[in-house]
Amino acid sequence: MPTQFNYTSTDIQAIFNRIAPVYDRLNNDLSLGLHWVWKQMAVSWSDANPGDTCLDLCCGSGDLTQLLAKRVGSNGTVIGADFAPAQLANAAAKIEGVYPPLNCIDWVEADALNLPFADNYFDAATMGYGLRNVTDIPRCLAELDRVLKPGAKVAILDFHRPDSQIVRRFQQWYLDRIVVPKATQLGMMDEYAYLNPSLDRFPTGAEQVQLGLTAGFSHAIHYPIASGMMGVLVLTK
Ligand SMILES: C[S@@+](CC[C@H](N)C(=O)[O-])C[C@H]1O[C@@H](n2cnc3c(N)ncnc32)[C@H](O)[C@@H]1O
Repeated sequence: MPTQFNYTSTDIQAIFNRIAPVYDRLNNDLSLGLHWVWKQMAVSWSDANPGDTCLDLCCGSGDLTQLLAKRVGSNGTVIGADFAPAQLANAAAKIEGVYPPLNCIDWVEADALNLPFADNYFDAATMGYGLRNVTDIPRCLAELDRVLKPGAKVAILDFHRPDSQIVRRFQQWYLDRIVVPKATQLGMMDEYAYLNPSLDRFPTGAEQVQLGLTAGFSHAIHYPIASGMMGVLVLTK
């Protein structure tokens, strides 16, 4: 039975501020470190190049931002944007003292539905596990289309409900028996219970392609990964 999604933007912002202290640990433990592989795939599909100006939208604790920064190098710029200040504080702390330094990153507190960037500004963009969480997906895609340069790409990585019933049952078992109990141990049960309704209302890969084209992108393709439990939507302006 699909769960109901009745969270406001303020609820979602509060959830991500609260889970900031445990977010990285849970990501690493629950994906057995595989989230780094999926994030690297998203960065490759974004086609970011050395010297580019890039956006990592809904950057959270900044993993994708860091991968993008390594890709664009010291002549490029990467903006990590998120509306949860506790996540941004973690992201900034994580790159302090790293060698070689990641000086090309700027952290910006911003709403994905109303981006404070000029039209046609970015050469490439990524978004990891963010689109499922915004309250207005078409508007977020339209904002991404607006701020990208013509021909630029955004690679959007997220969880999905898989098509296969067997994989879907496995995913539900994993969420109910592994993810929520582990989050509960860390005092974050309600925050991680939010995953189920967010997955239920998330468009399928085919629907995401249509939404991307409707938002104004000229090309859209969706790559299912991890047996359809995850996917990357690649949109070209
Ligand atoms: C699941 S986390 C993903 C973080 C990171 N991209 C990663 O892959 O680990 C989702 C992030 O989206 C942010 N977010 C959700 N809605 C947003 C919005 N409307 N504007 C900006 N950030 C938003 C949350 O604050 C949170 O940090």
